[in-house]
Amino acid sequence: MTVDWDVTAAQKDGYPHYMIKEIHEQPQAILRTITPRIKNGLPFFEDDQIPDSFFEGVTDITIIACGTAMYAGMVGKTMIQNRLQIPVTVTIASEFRYEMPILSKNSMVIAVSQSGETIDTLEALRLASKYTDRTISLVNVKGSSIARESHYALYTHAGPEIAVASTKAYTVQCATMYLLACKLGLSLGKMSEADAKEFIKTLESVPDYIEAVIAKASDVEQLTRQMINSEHTFFIGRGLDYTLTMEGALKLKEISYIHAESYAAGELKHGTIALIAEGVPVIAVATQKHVYSKTISNIREVKARGAYVILLSMDEKITDDSICDVHISLPQVPDEFAIFEAVVILQLIAYYTSVGKGLNPDQPRNLAKSVTVE
Ligand code: G6P
Repeated sequence: MTVDWDVTAAQKDGYPHYMIKEIHEQPQAILRTITPRIKNGLPFFEDDQIPDSFFEGVTDITIIACGTAMYAGMVGKTMIQNRLQIPVTVTIASEFRYEMPILSKNSMVIAVSQSGETIDTLEALRLASKYTDRTISLVNVKGSSIARESHYALYTHAGPEIAVASTKAYTVQCATMYLLACKLGLSLGKMSEADAKEFIKTLESVPDYIEAVIAKASDVEQLTRQMINSEHTFFIGRGLDYTLTMEGALKLKEISYIHAESYAAGELKHGTIALIAEGVPVIAVATQKHVYSKTISNIREVKARGAYVILLSMDEKITDDSICDVHISLPQVPDEFAIFEAVVILQLIAYYTSVGKGLNPDQPRNLAKSVTVE
């Protein structure tokens, strides 16, 4: 395995922890990852040596990954299905490897992994390769096993990620998924060139929006004071927001040891709402216009039962305290790009909650950065 990173790049650069340094590095990491893959305003994978034929005739996609990489896969699934109307499945790699895959030679399999060495993802990839020649990996470590064993590798250029809880690796995985989706959309005739150019232009502006969100870090630090003593927290959203809340809940669990669960907002009333009591934090993400009013009514339901609601939305008009206790207003972007802004807030919530509890977010108990044994 080759690691081509400069050792100095792995220092903390004056930040108290690697995690917060890596949160701040996200705009640059995304730019480094997408810029070389955009030519004349369209996705371009020739430098990655991926032929156009790889994308032609794809009938379905299966994404295999673990942990945060799997949640990046969930974002990819929802976005690709909505945009391209082709079936996309995300399967946890440790499950996939012991199942009977439903794959054909036109199925594309995407293995997502920061380290490129997660054993379950590697074994799932090996199994998938028996069914299709269209495997591709999204990997951050050059020359890693998963990159070598997939038919094609699309390297994410997050740089070294030292903190155990993944942040910048996740956002570059999502950005790479968006590039892939656009390329597929063009190849399959599901996106016009004009559409694709508009999409890529918005993707290129994501780093600026993330900068704007990071500038709100001190507001986030303040609001986490309410969360430090909580035992349970809930994250809710619909559609892309739901996929994002899964990652937000994982981040909080990993480094603050607070029980955090993510629910599709509409599912709450089928059981979980029984757990909502006075002061229980509910972090709601509502950026998707087509389900916005539905999510807001779910939020009202938990608020009426005493929840302490933190709402992330692009709605500048929220002033009503019957909806939430804290509103974090996100910069206006097309809905499918809001995940990039919202996830940064969720990362900051997890980080400041962990620090506020006196924990070291870089080294959570019982967790390893790379899991190379089963
Ligand atoms: C471990 C790490 C997670 C990571 C997962 C998958 O559990 O603690 O942060 O998401 O492995 O790792 P990979 O390197 O395959 O992305």
